[in-house]
Amino acid sequence: MIVKILLTTFATGLLSLGNAAAQEPAAVRGQETYMRVGCYECHGTDGQGNDAGPLLTPEPLPAEAMANFIRFSPGRMPVYPEEVLSDAEIEDIVAWLETVPPPPNADDIEILRDLKPPE
Ligand code: HEC
Repeated sequence: MIVKILLTTFATGLLSLGNAAAQEPAAVRGQETYMRVGCYECHGTDGQGNDAGPLLTPEPLPAEAMANFIRFSPGRMPVYPEEVLSDAEIEDIVAWLETVPPPPNADDIEILRDLKPPE
């Protein structure tokens, strides 16, 4: 009996390992895609933006608007066609961006409070 339970547990474990990618929540896949296709280069590793691109978090664009921008960007941003980045992958990216919490208020960061210029 115990052997059977152990074997079943083992087999189920193997099965879920094989399906790991399919079972990953959208946000996990989205972060992986965001890093893989290079969004982080211009928008920061948490979508916080940098000199090369505006911030995307908190409150990212809805998936449809984001896909529209990614496919038809009129500006400096490279255009990603469907063959490179699917709509489903863009939905995953948005699912992840939605989980990124807003940064703390500067007044709540002790060293920044201390470094403020004198009034
Ligand atoms: C080479 C730099 C670069 C890369 C890589 C890049 N972007 Fe951008 N992105 C920009 C710039 C610059 C803008 C500002 C508008 C413009 O100039 O096109 C922008 C704008 C955007 C906007 C519109 C923001 C707004 O509020 O108007 C979204 C959404 C966006 N990027 C998402 C992405 C995603 C998702 C990826 C990865 C698939 C990505 N970008 C990759 C540079 C980049």
